[in-house]
Amino acid sequence: MSNVEAKQVFNPNKEFAKTARIKNMCEYQALQDEAMEDYEGFWGRYAKEKLDWIEPFTNVLDESNAPFVKWFDGGKLNVSAQCIDRHLESRKNKAAIIFEGDRGDVQTITYLDLFKNVNKFANLLKEDFEVKKGDRVVIYMPMIPEAAYAMLACARIGAIHSIVFGGFSAEALKDRIEDAQAKVVITADGAFRKEKPYMLKPVVDAAIDDNSPVKKVLVVERNNEEVTWTAGRDYSYNELIKSKSSKCEAEVMDAEDPLFLLYTSGSTGKPKGVQHNSAGYILWAQMTMEWVFDVKENDTYWCTADVGWITGHTYIVYGPLAMGATTVMFEGVITHPDAGRPWKMVEEHKINQFYTAPTAIRVLHKMGEHEPAKYDLSSLKVLGTVGEPIDPPAWKWYYEEVGGSKCAIVDTYWQTETGGHVVSPLPGATPIKPGCATLPLPGIIAEILDPASGEVAEVGETGYMCITRPWPAQIRGVWGDEERYVKSYYGDVKKDGKPVYFTGDGARYDEDGYITITGRTDDVINVSGHRMGTAEVEAAIKKHPNVAEVAVVGKPHELKGEGIFAYIVLKSDDGVADEVEEVKTINKIIQREIGNIALCDDMVFAPGLPKTRSGKIMRRILRSIAKGEAITQDISTLEDPSIVEKINTMVNK
Ligand code: WTA
Repeated sequence: MSNVEAKQVFNPNKEFAKTARIKNMCEYQALQDEAMEDYEGFWGRYAKEKLDWIEPFTNVLDESNAPFVKWFDGGKLNVSAQCIDRHLESRKNKAAIIFEGDRGDVQTITYLDLFKNVNKFANLLKEDFEVKKGDRVVIYMPMIPEAAYAMLACARIGAIHSIVFGGFSAEALKDRIEDAQAKVVITADGAFRKEKPYMLKPVVDAAIDDNSPVKKVLVVERNNEEVTWTAGRDYSYNELIKSKSSKCEAEVMDAEDPLFLLYTSGSTGKPKGVQHNSAGYILWAQMTMEWVFDVKENDTYWCTADVGWITGHTYIVYGPLAMGATTVMFEGVITHPDAGRPWKMVEEHKINQFYTAPTAIRVLHKMGEHEPAKYDLSSLKVLGTVGEPIDPPAWKWYYEEVGGSKCAIVDTYWQTETGGHVVSPLPGATPIKPGCATLPLPGIIAEILDPASGEVAEVGETGYMCITRPWPAQIRGVWGDEERYVKSYYGDVKKDGKPVYFTGDGARYDEDGYITITGRTDDVINVSGHRMGTAEVEAAIKKHPNVAEVAVVGKPHELKGEGIFAYIVLKSDDGVADEVEEVKTINKIIQREIGNIALCDDMVFAPGLPKTRSGKIMRRILRSIAKGEAITQDISTLEDPSIVEKINTMVNK
């Protein structure tokens, strides 16, 4: 029997704990108690200690207009200065970013280099693109250092960036540009994937027409493939940057000035522009970097996420740089040229903390069970996971084969809206259990509540994962839609009669008070750790003129966590031959409307959908059918109960 199966609780590595920032559970508890007793005192203390204020704040937390909250009011700072300028004195020649390209090319960017590059970039945006404080800038970039420069340059001049993941289609990009009314797009010709060039610029071209709010496009030349240039609109970064000064005064920003928007899926069709503001976000990004990854001065840290997602924002760029760490940025695919790639990188860069998604762990495990053993992984101290629940077999492999049974696994639970980790083990303190996110971080009042009563859930009962006090890195609003913010996050659960933040996830406590996340309770699914609204996929499929009705649900998937399962009712049902064509057409529509990440794993052409008499689609039944489960729900009240058996036969027999 392996170690993992033999005992389910793993204590922190004693050697590691000796020098960890939080060394044991007593220290954890003391911090959590401090926060509970004097919430504002706790946060005020850290905000003073961790941030370099241009002007000090006068008030820690203003809840008078809850759920719209203000943190550190009156304070002034600049996030790019937090991430760069303040390190120049002691870390000028330290690597800020180690970039590894898809083809193995490596570039080390020191804090001084970063300072110069970001300042030049900021001057370019100001001088040539007339970008001002408060303007929105869309970033549609591959994983290259210029993506980080672009983010920090925006922060430096007070522009609000909105990164759109490079896998999204022109339509999806266009929607996000329009919603934010961005005036500039920063992109690249493309980049390299599996040693071949791929393109981004043509997608940007297709997303911008004469009515677009975007007037200028900046193109970083990375793969030097041919692209079409629109005169007067498109400009080469590589050309313009040459003449720019490497000194650009950082804009003095209010603590609550917006830092960025990041669009994410919710339960309705349209993605939400999650807004994060300056001081609270950067404070928590830094604190969680320090506590959860326990990065030390000479450590090298690698997070494999893409900057297009929140993990890339907080844990590749803002968090590591705010604390003055060395962060690795990787352009390629971690399974290329083989499943040894990440382990080779760990060996070569002597990586100390490695942070990835369960879906990647499952794929790497499947492709190379003993691959990690071929490399020297002795530098590793902390292994992290994020994005979805991690299943015990994947956890076990990660712990034993990658971590050599000596590294802590930090199963970090959080979301775009929380800005940073909210529930996670601390590597030097928390005894860990496979598949369990464990305990709220100090300062975070996360509670599992019974949605009906608002009481704290009993041990073993699944309830709603809520955060019952505001926290500094929390979402400040949904861009352009105040009501949607309140409705989406403060509409479902009340505690002591007051609405509290609900994450959308279910969770349960075990007998030790540990939290296990059980998954979304809404119509959001989690495909390879990417959040996808089933309503978004449905809206895309509905664009097909021959589709009468569609319902999309998640289905457990061995590698991706969840796969996308679509039940489609066609207007004309002409038999199987046409269905093959329809699948192709629908796939093309999904690619056009959202991108490859939303392609369905299963499509079933159903004669109808199970609906209540009032016309509501019974998704629970469809989920059960997709999973191949027995139907236990009462179907007698359906408009047409026979439809359930018909669909079930099509899918499962
Ligand atoms: C899920 C990613 C279980 C959850 C940072 C959440 C997790 C959604 C975990 C957010 C975890 C994230 N265990 N589930 N450790 N981490 N999730 O906004 O459903 O892309 O609501 O942020 O991922 O996804 P998002």
